[in-house]
Amino acid sequence: MTIQEEIRQLCRDKNAVIMAHYYQRPEIQDVADFIGDSLALAQQAAKTEAKIIVMCGVHFMAETAACLCPDRKVLIPAPEAGCSLADSCQAEDLRRWKEEHPGYMVVSYVNTSAEVKALTDVVVTSSNALKIINQLPKDANILFGPDKNLGSYINDLTGREMTLWNGACHVHARFSVEALIHLKHDHPNAPVLTHPECKKAVIELSDYVGSTAALLKYVKTHTNNEYIIVTESGVIHEMQKACPGVTFILVPPEITEGVGCMCNECEYMRMATLEKLRDTLRDEINEVHVEPEVAAKAVKSIHKMLAMS
Ligand code: 13P
Ligand code: SF4
Repeated sequence: MTIQEEIRQLCRDKNAVIMAHYYQRPEIQDVADFIGDSLALAQQAAKTEAKIIVMCGVHFMAETAACLCPDRKVLIPAPEAGCSLADSCQAEDLRRWKEEHPGYMVVSYVNTSAEVKALTDVVVTSSNALKIINQLPKDANILFGPDKNLGSYINDLTGREMTLWNGACHVHARFSVEALIHLKHDHPNAPVLTHPECKKAVIELSDYVGSTAALLKYVKTHTNNEYIIVTESGVIHEMQKACPGVTFILVPPEITEGVGCMCNECEYMRMATLEKLRDTLRDEINEVHVEPEVAAKAVKSIHKMLAMS
Protein backbone atom coordinates (compact mmCIF):
# COMPACT_ATOMS: atom_id res chain seq x y z
CA MET A 1 0.00 0.00 0.00
CA THR A 2 1.34 3.47 -0.82
CA ILE A 3 1.33 6.10 1.88
CA GLN A 4 -1.44 7.91 -0.02
CA GLU A 5 -3.58 4.75 0.02
CA GLU A 6 -2.84 4.28 3.70
CA ILE A 7 -4.02 7.85 4.42
CA ARG A 8 -7.20 7.43 2.37
CA GLN A 9 -7.95 4.14 4.14
CA LEU A 10 -7.49 5.82 7.55
CA CYS A 11 -9.95 8.54 6.47
CA ARG A 12 -12.58 5.93 5.61
CA ASP A 13 -12.00 3.88 8.78
CA LYS A 14 -12.14 6.90 11.09
CA ASN A 15 -14.71 9.09 9.28
CA ALA A 16 -12.05 11.78 8.88
CA VAL A 17 -11.77 14.58 6.38
CA ILE A 18 -8.49 16.10 5.20
CA MET A 19 -8.53 19.81 4.42
CA ALA A 20 -5.53 21.51 2.83
CA HIS A 21 -4.62 25.08 2.00
CA TYR A 22 -3.35 25.83 -1.53
CA TYR A 23 0.10 26.60 -0.08
CA GLN A 24 0.59 23.05 1.15
CA ARG A 25 3.05 20.70 -0.55
CA PRO A 26 1.62 19.32 -3.82
CA GLU A 27 1.49 15.75 -2.48
CA ILE A 28 -0.59 16.92 0.49
CA GLN A 29 -2.98 18.80 -1.79
CA ASP A 30 -3.36 15.67 -3.92
CA VAL A 31 -4.34 13.44 -1.00
CA ALA A 32 -6.78 15.93 0.58
CA ASP A 33 -10.57 15.73 0.44
CA PHE A 34 -10.82 19.46 0.13
CA ILE A 35 -8.38 22.19 -0.94
CA GLY A 36 -9.18 25.83 -0.39
CA ASP A 37 -8.12 29.28 0.64
CA SER A 38 -8.61 30.50 4.21
CA LEU A 39 -12.27 31.37 3.70
CA ALA A 40 -13.17 28.12 1.96
CA LEU A 41 -11.44 26.08 4.68
CA ALA A 42 -13.46 27.85 7.39
CA GLN A 43 -16.68 27.41 5.40
CA GLN A 44 -15.93 23.75 4.81
CA ALA A 45 -15.09 23.13 8.48
CA ALA A 46 -18.38 24.79 9.49
CA LYS A 47 -20.39 22.31 7.44
CA THR A 48 -18.44 19.05 7.61
CA GLU A 49 -20.09 16.02 9.19
CA ALA A 50 -16.83 14.10 9.59
CA LYS A 51 -15.81 13.09 13.11
CA ILE A 52 -12.18 14.12 12.63
CA ILE A 53 -10.87 17.13 10.72
CA VAL A 54 -7.21 17.01 9.75
CA MET A 55 -6.21 20.57 8.91
CA CYS A 56 -3.18 20.68 6.63
CA GLY A 57 -2.35 24.31 7.04
CA VAL A 58 -1.01 26.54 9.77
CA HIS A 59 -2.08 26.72 13.38
CA PHE A 60 -4.64 29.53 13.13
CA MET A 61 -6.51 27.55 10.45
CA ALA A 62 -6.83 24.54 12.75
CA GLU A 63 -7.87 26.80 15.63
CA THR A 64 -10.58 28.36 13.47
CA ALA A 65 -11.88 24.87 12.66
CA ALA A 66 -11.72 23.92 16.36
CA CYS A 67 -13.75 27.02 17.32
CA LEU A 68 -16.35 26.21 14.67
CA CYS A 69 -16.53 22.49 15.51
CA PRO A 70 -16.12 22.04 19.28
CA ASP A 71 -17.66 18.56 19.08
CA ARG A 72 -15.11 17.28 16.50
CA LYS A 73 -11.50 16.29 16.85
CA VAL A 74 -9.32 18.78 14.93
CA LEU A 75 -5.82 17.49 14.21
CA ILE A 76 -2.88 19.32 12.65
CA PRO A 77 -0.01 17.31 11.11
CA ALA A 78 2.54 20.05 11.90
CA PRO A 79 1.57 21.64 15.24
CA GLU A 80 4.68 23.83 15.10
CA ALA A 81 3.43 25.53 11.92
CA GLY A 82 2.82 29.12 12.99
CA CYS A 83 2.40 32.25 10.89
CA SER A 84 4.59 35.36 10.99
CA LEU A 85 1.54 37.55 10.43
CA ALA A 86 -0.55 35.98 13.21
CA ASP A 87 2.47 36.15 15.54
CA SER A 88 2.81 39.90 14.95
CA CYS A 89 -0.40 40.53 16.88
CA GLN A 90 -0.61 39.10 20.38
CA ALA A 91 -3.89 39.28 22.28
CA GLU A 92 -2.38 41.46 25.04
CA ASP A 93 -1.18 44.01 22.49
CA LEU A 94 -4.57 44.06 20.78
CA ARG A 95 -6.28 44.55 24.12
CA ARG A 96 -4.09 47.60 24.78
CA TRP A 97 -4.69 48.95 21.24
CA LYS A 98 -8.44 48.66 21.81
CA GLU A 99 -8.14 50.51 25.15
CA GLU A 100 -6.30 53.32 23.37
CA HIS A 101 -9.17 53.54 20.84
CA PRO A 102 -12.48 53.47 22.72
CA GLY A 103 -15.54 53.18 20.49
CA TYR A 104 -13.65 51.56 17.60
CA MET A 105 -14.80 48.34 15.94
CA VAL A 106 -12.16 45.65 15.58
CA VAL A 107 -11.86 43.87 12.24
CA SER A 108 -9.27 41.08 12.27
CA TYR A 109 -7.80 39.15 9.43
CA VAL A 110 -8.33 35.40 9.85
CA ASN A 111 -4.54 35.03 10.26
CA THR A 112 -4.80 35.55 14.02
CA SER A 113 -4.95 33.42 17.15
CA ALA A 114 -8.27 32.43 18.70
CA GLU A 115 -7.47 34.84 21.58
CA VAL A 116 -7.25 37.71 19.11
CA LYS A 117 -10.46 36.61 17.38
CA ALA A 118 -12.13 36.60 20.81
CA LEU A 119 -11.34 40.35 21.05
CA THR A 120 -12.63 40.99 17.52
CA ASP A 121 -16.01 42.19 16.21
CA VAL A 122 -15.74 40.56 12.81
CA VAL A 123 -13.12 38.37 11.15
CA VAL A 124 -12.29 38.74 7.45
CA THR A 125 -10.16 36.85 4.96
CA SER A 126 -8.57 38.14 1.79
CA SER A 127 -11.60 36.73 -0.12
CA ASN A 128 -14.27 38.67 1.72
CA ALA A 129 -12.55 41.67 3.38
CA LEU A 130 -13.86 44.20 0.86
CA LYS A 131 -17.39 42.79 0.91
CA ILE A 132 -17.56 42.75 4.71
CA ILE A 133 -16.01 46.16 5.27
CA ASN A 134 -18.43 47.63 2.73
CA GLN A 135 -21.29 46.37 4.93
CA LEU A 136 -20.03 48.19 8.04
CA PRO A 137 -21.49 51.62 8.85
CA LYS A 138 -19.86 54.33 6.72
CA ASP A 139 -18.96 56.37 9.80
CA ALA A 140 -17.59 53.45 11.84
CA ASN A 141 -14.15 53.92 13.34
CA ILE A 142 -12.29 50.70 12.61
CA LEU A 143 -9.14 49.10 13.94
CA PHE A 144 -7.90 46.67 11.28
CA GLY A 145 -5.18 44.13 11.92
CA PRO A 146 -2.78 42.57 11.66
CA ASP A 147 -2.04 42.85 7.91
CA LYS A 148 -1.22 46.47 7.06
CA ASN A 149 -0.95 45.71 3.33
CA LEU A 150 -4.44 44.22 3.07
CA GLY A 151 -5.75 47.03 5.29
CA SER A 152 -4.18 49.74 3.16
CA TYR A 153 -5.48 48.08 -0.02
CA ILE A 154 -9.02 48.07 1.42
CA ASN A 155 -8.62 51.69 2.58
CA ASP A 156 -7.63 52.67 -0.98
CA LEU A 157 -10.59 50.78 -2.51
CA THR A 158 -13.20 52.07 -0.08
CA GLY A 159 -11.92 55.54 0.80
CA ARG A 160 -12.12 54.56 4.47
CA GLU A 161 -9.41 55.46 6.92
CA MET A 162 -9.20 52.33 9.03
CA THR A 163 -6.43 52.46 11.62
CA LEU A 164 -3.97 49.71 10.71
CA TRP A 165 -1.91 47.34 12.82
CA ASN A 166 1.72 47.26 11.72
CA GLY A 167 1.94 43.60 10.66
CA ALA A 168 2.75 41.82 7.42
CA CYS A 169 3.30 38.33 6.04
CA HIS A 170 7.03 37.80 5.59
CA VAL A 171 6.42 35.87 2.34
CA HIS A 172 4.05 38.31 0.64
CA ALA A 173 5.75 41.48 1.87
CA ARG A 174 9.14 40.59 0.40
CA PHE A 175 8.42 40.22 -3.32
CA SER A 176 10.88 42.28 -5.32
CA VAL A 177 9.41 45.32 -7.10
CA GLU A 178 12.50 45.53 -9.28
CA ALA A 179 12.21 41.89 -10.38
CA LEU A 180 8.52 42.38 -11.12
CA ILE A 181 9.28 45.39 -13.33
CA HIS A 182 11.84 43.31 -15.26
CA LEU A 183 9.41 40.38 -15.64
CA LYS A 184 6.66 42.69 -16.90
CA HIS A 185 9.08 44.09 -19.46
CA ASP A 186 10.13 40.62 -20.62
CA HIS A 187 6.55 39.25 -20.67
CA PRO A 188 4.37 42.19 -21.74
CA ASN A 189 1.33 39.98 -22.45
CA ALA A 190 1.35 38.16 -19.11
CA PRO A 191 -1.22 39.58 -16.66
CA VAL A 192 0.21 40.17 -13.17
CA LEU A 193 -1.96 38.44 -10.54
CA THR A 194 -1.23 39.49 -6.97
CA HIS A 195 -2.34 38.61 -3.45
CA PRO A 196 -3.46 41.63 -1.37
CA GLU A 197 -0.98 40.78 1.40
CA CYS A 198 1.69 42.18 -0.96
CA LYS A 199 3.00 45.70 -0.50
CA LYS A 200 1.44 48.67 -2.27
CA ALA A 201 4.26 49.12 -4.81
CA VAL A 202 3.62 45.55 -6.03
CA ILE A 203 -0.16 45.95 -6.04
CA GLU A 204 0.17 49.10 -8.15
CA LEU A 205 2.04 47.12 -10.82
CA SER A 206 -0.65 44.41 -10.93
CA ASP A 207 -3.50 43.70 -13.34
CA TYR A 208 -5.59 41.78 -10.83
CA VAL A 209 -5.52 41.55 -7.02
CA GLY A 210 -7.29 38.75 -5.17
CA SER A 211 -7.21 35.99 -2.60
CA THR A 212 -5.60 32.66 -3.45
CA ALA A 213 -8.96 31.28 -4.65
CA ALA A 214 -9.67 34.42 -6.66
CA LEU A 215 -6.30 34.20 -8.44
CA LEU A 216 -7.05 30.56 -9.27
CA LYS A 217 -10.47 31.48 -10.60
CA TYR A 218 -8.90 34.20 -12.73
CA VAL A 219 -6.57 31.78 -14.53
CA LYS A 220 -9.36 29.22 -14.93
CA THR A 221 -11.61 31.78 -16.61
CA HIS A 222 -9.06 33.53 -18.86
CA THR A 223 -7.14 32.24 -21.85
CA ASN A 224 -3.68 33.84 -21.58
CA ASN A 225 -0.64 31.70 -22.35
CA GLU A 226 1.34 33.05 -19.43
CA TYR A 227 0.80 34.82 -16.12
CA ILE A 228 3.05 36.48 -13.59
CA ILE A 229 2.00 35.22 -10.16
CA VAL A 230 2.79 37.24 -7.04
CA THR A 231 1.91 35.01 -4.13
CA GLU A 232 3.14 31.88 -2.37
CA SER A 233 4.27 29.32 -4.95
CA GLY A 234 2.11 26.44 -3.65
CA VAL A 235 -0.84 27.75 -5.63
CA ILE A 236 0.94 26.94 -8.91
CA HIS A 237 0.21 23.24 -8.39
CA GLU A 238 -3.54 23.75 -8.74
CA MET A 239 -3.11 26.40 -11.46
CA GLN A 240 -0.98 24.06 -13.53
CA LYS A 241 -3.47 21.21 -13.08
CA ALA A 242 -6.33 23.47 -14.19
CA CYS A 243 -4.39 25.02 -17.08
CA PRO A 244 -1.88 22.55 -18.55
CA GLY A 245 0.39 24.16 -21.12
CA VAL A 246 0.08 27.62 -19.55
CA THR A 247 3.24 29.20 -18.10
CA PHE A 248 3.13 30.60 -14.58
CA ILE A 249 6.03 32.91 -13.80
CA LEU A 250 6.93 33.43 -10.15
CA VAL A 251 8.37 36.68 -8.83
CA PRO A 252 11.43 36.27 -6.59
CA PRO A 253 11.69 37.90 -3.19
CA GLU A 254 13.92 40.86 -2.47
CA ILE A 255 17.46 40.06 -1.48
CA THR A 256 18.15 41.63 1.89
CA GLU A 257 21.49 42.17 3.61
CA GLY A 258 23.27 40.25 0.89
CA VAL A 259 21.51 37.02 1.80
CA GLY A 260 19.12 36.08 -0.92
CA CYS A 261 16.43 33.46 -0.54
CA MET A 262 15.20 32.88 -4.06
CA CYS A 263 12.17 30.97 -2.96
CA ASN A 264 8.71 32.28 -2.26
CA GLU A 265 7.50 29.40 -0.15
CA CYS A 266 6.01 29.80 3.30
CA GLU A 267 8.17 27.56 5.46
CA TYR A 268 5.30 27.10 7.93
CA MET A 269 2.99 25.85 5.22
CA ARG A 270 5.62 23.31 4.09
CA MET A 271 6.06 21.74 7.52
CA ALA A 272 3.32 19.16 6.95
CA THR A 273 4.49 16.05 5.11
CA LEU A 274 2.66 12.90 4.03
CA GLU A 275 4.38 10.97 6.83
CA LYS A 276 3.31 13.49 9.47
CA LEU A 277 -0.21 13.49 8.06
CA ARG A 278 -0.40 9.67 8.14
CA ASP A 279 0.98 9.44 11.69
CA THR A 280 -1.28 12.23 12.98
CA LEU A 281 -4.37 10.56 11.63
CA ARG A 282 -3.37 7.01 12.53
CA ASP A 283 -2.48 7.85 16.14
CA GLU A 284 -4.96 10.73 16.51
CA ILE A 285 -2.23 12.98 17.86
CA ASN A 286 -1.61 16.75 17.55
CA GLU A 287 -5.14 17.67 18.52
CA VAL A 288 -5.81 21.41 18.58
CA HIS A 289 -7.59 22.66 21.68
CA VAL A 290 -8.97 26.12 22.23
CA GLU A 291 -10.06 27.14 25.73
CA PRO A 292 -13.88 26.91 25.74
CA GLU A 293 -14.37 30.52 26.94
CA VAL A 294 -12.00 31.80 24.26
CA ALA A 295 -13.63 29.63 21.58
CA ALA A 296 -17.11 30.79 22.57
CA LYS A 297 -16.08 34.44 22.02
CA ALA A 298 -13.94 33.80 18.93
CA VAL A 299 -16.66 31.83 17.18
CA LYS A 300 -18.98 34.86 17.31
CA SER A 301 -16.62 36.94 15.16
CA ILE A 302 -16.03 33.95 12.84
CA HIS A 303 -19.77 33.29 12.46
CA LYS A 304 -20.32 36.97 11.76
CA MET A 305 -17.79 36.69 8.95
CA LEU A 306 -19.49 33.60 7.51
CA ALA A 307 -22.87 35.34 7.61
CA MET A 308 -21.55 38.48 5.89
CA SER A 309 -19.53 36.62 3.18
P1 13P B 1 -5.88 33.29 1.59
O1 13P B 1 -5.97 31.85 1.82
O2 13P B 1 -7.06 34.04 2.13
O3 13P B 1 -5.64 33.65 0.15
O4 13P B 1 -4.65 33.86 2.43
C1 13P B 1 -3.35 33.52 2.10
C2 13P B 1 -2.50 33.24 3.23
O5 13P B 1 -1.46 33.79 3.40
C3 13P B 1 -2.93 32.23 4.17
O6 13P B 1 -2.06 32.17 5.20
FE1 SF4 C 1 1.27 33.30 7.47
FE2 SF4 C 1 2.27 34.36 5.27
FE3 SF4 C 1 2.63 31.79 5.73
FE4 SF4 C 1 0.18 32.71 5.10
S1 SF4 C 1 1.98 32.71 3.78
S2 SF4 C 1 0.70 31.26 6.74
S3 SF4 C 1 0.25 34.73 6.08
S4 SF4 C 1 3.44 33.47 6.97
